[in-house]
Amino acid sequence: MASLSTPLLGGAIHERGVVKLIMQDEEFNYLSQLAFRESGIVINESKRDMLYGRVMKRIRSLKLNGFTAYCQLLQDSYTGELSAFINAITTNLTAFFREEYHFNFLQKVALAHFKHHNQDKRLRLWSAGCSTGQEPYSIAMSVQGQLPDWDVKILATDLDSDVLWCAHQGHYDDLTGIPQHYRTQYCANECHQHGYLIGDDIKQVIAFKQLNLLSRWPMKGQFDVIFCRNVLIYFDNETKQKLIQRFYAQLKPGGYLFLGHSESLQSLNTKFRLVGQTIYQR
Ligand SMILES: C[S@@+](CC[C@H](N)C(=O)[O-])C[C@H]1O[C@@H](n2cnc3c(N)ncnc32)[C@H](O)[C@@H]1O
Repeated sequence: MASLSTPLLGGAIHERGVVKLIMQDEEFNYLSQLAFRESGIVINESKRDMLYGRVMKRIRSLKLNGFTAYCQLLQDSYTGELSAFINAITTNLTAFFREEYHFNFLQKVALAHFKHHNQDKRLRLWSAGCSTGQEPYSIAMSVQGQLPDWDVKILATDLDSDVLWCAHQGHYDDLTGIPQHYRTQYCANECHQHGYLIGDDIKQVIAFKQLNLLSRWPMKGQFDVIFCRNVLIYFDNETKQKLIQRFYAQLKPGGYLFLGHSESLQSLNTKFRLVGQTIYQR
């Protein structure tokens, strides 16, 4: 764990009668370096307010008196605060069928390719950075019913343990984005409380696991499809380059990589071929 070279000067100012805690530069540097080392997420000066707001929530819920105390807590590894800190700094925005053209491509082009090439009738997909689960559930709904008698499995991973718990529950208040025919087919189990549960026939093809993309990947086999959308944008070029090489190795020849709408491989050194809108093929 990164260490603080000098004792931190915690502090607070009074603003119109309200006490506002101050995050000193040294504390900002410590927290942003820790975030980078543990998750690859780059928090530069332009994201200082974002970091402040998210760490403040931790400080309030732990009833600490400032950033100095919070940094000190992070240094005491036995407290387990590191994982709560990482959960706090991840951005988990997602939606069902986000970037719908990816799911159209998956159904119309990619599945046609695999029907032709996968003689073993086996399909392996990975949603890397799956957040609260809307992405892997959208993938599962797109594939389910298209490949009768096939062995289809989806691995859905994220670094953030809180979002993974939500994903695993498959309980949503809002089904916006899910086409009506899928809602009727796969989300009809309205809960006794509020919201909807994703049906077991969809849930059973997905395995949710915690995985830091920066660490060793335990998966032995290669994938036919990898979705890693809206994750690389948080990383620097060096991390992106390494990850893209690892995704290439983890995909079968002919396999597809789906990136987010603002992510491209243009500035990176890669053998991937562009075959659609932010869709690449090995
Ligand atoms: C903006 S969400 C994208 C969710 C989904 N892929 C989508 O496009 O809708 C980014 C996700 O990446 C995860 N993430 C960030 N850094 C990660 C890392 N080093 N390893 C694994 N997941 C990470 C975050 O926890 C977050 O849930």
